[in-house]
Amino acid sequence: MSPDGIPQERIPVEVHADAAAGCATLARAIAELVRSRQAAGKPCVLGLATGSTPVPLYRELIRLHREEGLSFAHVTTFNLDEYHGLPEGHPQSYRVFMHEQFFRHVDFQPGANHLPDVSGPRDAIHGACLAYERAIREAGGIDLQVLGIGRTGHIGFNEPGSAPDSRTRLVTLDRLTRSDAARDFLGETNVPRHAVTMGVGTILEARRIVLLAWGHRKASVVARAVEEPPTDALPASLLQRHGDVRFVVDGAAAVELTRVRRPWLSGASVAWTPRTLRRAVCWLALRARRPVLKLLDEHYAEGGLADLLTQAGPAYDLNIRVFNEVQHTITGWPGGKPGADDRVRPERALPHPRRVLVLSPEPADCITGMGGTIERLVAQGHAVTVAALTSGNLAVSDEEAALAAGLVIDIAETLGEDGAEAWLGRRIQHLLTLRHERYDDSPEVRRMKGMIRRNEFRAALRQAGVAPSCVRFLQLPFYENGRYRQFRPGDADVDAVVALLAELAPHSVFVTGRGVDPASVAGSTWSVVARALERSPAPPDGPRSVWLYAASDHAWEPGEADMVVPLSPGELARRSEAIYQVRSQRSQTPLPAGAESAEPWKAAHDRDCALAGGYDALGLAEYAALEGFVRLAPDDPA
Ligand code: GLP
Repeated sequence: MSPDGIPQERIPVEVHADAAAGCATLARAIAELVRSRQAAGKPCVLGLATGSTPVPLYRELIRLHREEGLSFAHVTTFNLDEYHGLPEGHPQSYRVFMHEQFFRHVDFQPGANHLPDVSGPRDAIHGACLAYERAIREAGGIDLQVLGIGRTGHIGFNEPGSAPDSRTRLVTLDRLTRSDAARDFLGETNVPRHAVTMGVGTILEARRIVLLAWGHRKASVVARAVEEPPTDALPASLLQRHGDVRFVVDGAAAVELTRVRRPWLSGASVAWTPRTLRRAVCWLALRARRPVLKLLDEHYAEGGLADLLTQAGPAYDLNIRVFNEVQHTITGWPGGKPGADDRVRPERALPHPRRVLVLSPEPADCITGMGGTIERLVAQGHAVTVAALTSGNLAVSDEEAALAAGLVIDIAETLGEDGAEAWLGRRIQHLLTLRHERYDDSPEVRRMKGMIRRNEFRAALRQAGVAPSCVRFLQLPFYENGRYRQFRPGDADVDAVVALLAELAPHSVFVTGRGVDPASVAGSTWSVVARALERSPAPPDGPRSVWLYAASDHAWEPGEADMVVPLSPGELARRSEAIYQVRSQRSQTPLPAGAESAEPWKAAHDRDCALAGGYDALGLAEYAALEGFVRLAPDDPA
């Protein structure tokens, strides 16, 4: 904190337009380091990280190797960590990951790439950890350490509680960390419980440290690590003790930094746009615990908004302006209200009915994001098509697939048919028993898992009044041929969405995923949809509105949404029931007593009740829940 109580950034943060731009900058710096070391005849030692975050960095380094002759022949690498207890060659082991994502594509010398040795029995681990530390020292220490950050604030696998002087050691993984890794391992139960990681002290000995973070899921932990005093409870904050550390983030991972979220508190002069102004006044009202219309000049002055008051005040004028703007975001007519004066409504009255396309990254994401709105759009007579962009089959556990396979066999036997169906069921059951030697799903298993999600989605949509004939399954190739953290959306994906837009010519498109982790499914589908929208003209019979609905792990602030659709208690309950139909996405393990529920229906319920609570606190109407949307204007950055 500065003397006036405004948080300062204690670690320099570079904000880039996107992950690719951030990685291009860092890759250039690494290339310079590698070349200058080589020119001086000195070794170069890089500390490397895993996870989806550094993948675009590795892709860029590979490009520099191929296209600009960057050689790694004189570079030694040490990775931060490795899971303990995985069989050798397991595709989720960090050794395999690094080999596939980076090492095998460039010219490292044999033996140049080190990862913690987890191969021996458990009582040999301690010795192996000491040897790892020794090897780093003997290599001359790490010149540049690349880091990602986990949602617990961990670096490497240094979970909260790790001491600043901790060294390479065996650690137990946090519950949140294991649940974040669940999808990689096709279920949380398959995630190892232990790992070997460099310690915080080991990391702090690197001469230079760069931490990368993308997407709004990391925004809060980034802001805390940078703006709060260093503490063991948030290991990344311990990096503040280092003299040459920086964070390289994208816009979404920067949103919780005070200078971005509350620029009026950062001391710098603010370029007031209508959007920033609305957010500032709503923030002030919530902070002062007063409805917008009761804010006084002194509240503006005390809240750091004196400058705004001078430019656009007095408080009375600002209050009315923002109150009306926020009031006008509320509508029960998300497809426009026919016959109404639409000058201050979020959506135009005409055309009515309109063609509406709802795009869902995985099946059911659109129900957790906007299930109540879908129900309304259908009830108000619009032609609603809901398209699942991917099958979502990677997110179905083996247990669910085994159950479905068992049903197929039983049905076939009941019908007295021991033909293809029963054979398929048995084959899937057999493939599932091979999990210990085959870690990726075979095409048959993936197909069965996709069918499970398809049928769950249809069941959930029935609840919202969407007929099965209005549901599309796009199965974008980047997902169907890909693996978590390794998706590479391309032209074929964009073409498929362009074709759908051309066929349906929607007047309203609902999308999600802007600002989420670019390596996630929703982040990947967003990049595809954004490109497809750019390539697709508006329909011939009217303009096109594009609305962003909340991603599963994201919520809009009251002053941020451009349209909110109220849900009555009954509608809210129906939406929760619809989400509950999606059995394969419920928590797979019972939660410990007292733990916060992470169930999808509950997360969506809490998110939208909180938004309604915000509107209530601002002095607007009191609703059970609000589904929020942000308008995607053509000039909005993708
Ligand atoms: C794991 C790794 C960390 C990584 C984190 C975040 O826990 N051990 O080094 O930073 O995941 O992963 P992601 O980059 O996929 O968000």
